[in-house]
Amino acid sequence: SSNIRLAVIPGDGIGTEVVTEGLKVLNAVGVKVETTEYDLGARRYNLSGETLPDDVLDELRGYDAILLGAVGHPSVPPGVLERDLLLKLRFELDHYVNLRPVKLFPGVATPLGGVSPEDIDMIVVREGTEGPYAGAGGVMRRGTEHEIATQESLNTAYGVERVVRYAFEKALSRPRRKLTLVHKTNVLTYAGDLWARTVDRLSLEYPEVETDYCHVDAASMFFVNQPARFDVIVTDNLFGDILTDIGAAVAGGIGLAASGNVNPERTAPSMFEPVHGSAPDIAGQGKADPTATILSVAMLLDHLGLSEAAERVEQAVADDLLERQSGWSGRTTREIGDDITARVAG
Ligand code: NAD
Ligand code: IPM
Ligand code: MN
Repeated sequence: SSNIRLAVIPGDGIGTEVVTEGLKVLNAVGVKVETTEYDLGARRYNLSGETLPDDVLDELRGYDAILLGAVGHPSVPPGVLERDLLLKLRFELDHYVNLRPVKLFPGVATPLGGVSPEDIDMIVVREGTEGPYAGAGGVMRRGTEHEIATQESLNTAYGVERVVRYAFEKALSRPRRKLTLVHKTNVLTYAGDLWARTVDRLSLEYPEVETDYCHVDAASMFFVNQPARFDVIVTDNLFGDILTDIGAAVAGGIGLAASGNVNPERTAPSMFEPVHGSAPDIAGQGKADPTATILSVAMLLDHLGLSEAAERVEQAVADDLLERQSGWSGRTTREIGDDITARVAG
């Protein structure tokens, strides 16, 4: 029936380790999937200087979806793979919605006191193609004591409206129907004003959705001491990046945090990846938790309309998490992948 054509970019460090487990689970869930692996990342760059060649990018446009591990390696200057490979994919494939659930599964240890799974169940809709990530800015007199570095945040009415609209729709589909804008309107007055006016204007079209606003500094605090105040959050690219690492920490750790870089109009494939990076400190040791990648596979299946398969994967993860007592379970990357695969295969 459904035959998924999936491009796989394992990338660097633990990216390759966790993707192996994600694919194991995907292959066990009973959907027909045809995978093609792309050797992009530090190895390719160090061999040939290539990050994301045009012909590869064009080929990637032809898939139903992309699964990515992580990129970034100590042998490559910071920014090369992050900007010219990962961000280039998000920008070129118009992944304007970066969906990042922050959800505490039953049985998972959280560093917060007195919270239960009902208290941490939100989804961050992070803008994915603009903001400070757009690359506007520059440097003058580099290396002198008069160096000036600027890094501007790009915010377009078009770009803000489409992601805010997506967030309203997402809020409408959830029981609480609450949308919180997170920004810094008290300091970033031009961009903040555009975001705030956009939310106000669209709220008239969504009277069933309750809207709220939080400055990003306060939101960071509330993630830790009042996570229950959030349902759907919409925010800019950089605030969303930072907030979702905090979210990962409060919901059981970065090894559990999944994400989807979504192109809602499907003019190009969406890309699913764990929130974490290539973790050079633990790479090659079998210590990486593949759960975030496996949950990203569930998001991928859901995006492709295979909601039953997605549900099976998420349930297998939930069951596995319930059995982990607290903190690190002592299993290797492969053992966790095998255990979740066995549950999925049922
Ligand atoms: P990181 O997420 O790689 O690691 C932060 C910490 O979390 C490390 O101590 C690491 O060991 C731990 N960790 C991460 N994933 C884990 C997992 N699955 N299981 C257990 N522990 C895990 O972030 P970093 O150290 O800031 O960045 C390392 C490299 O990764 C950099 O080159 C960075 O640019 C890149 N990066 C890439 C992505 C991506 O590809 N999407 C995301 C973030 C960082
Ligand atoms: C993430 C990462 C990326 C980001 C980097 C590696 C470009 O931190 O996916 O969260 O900042 O978006
Ligand atoms: Mn990040």
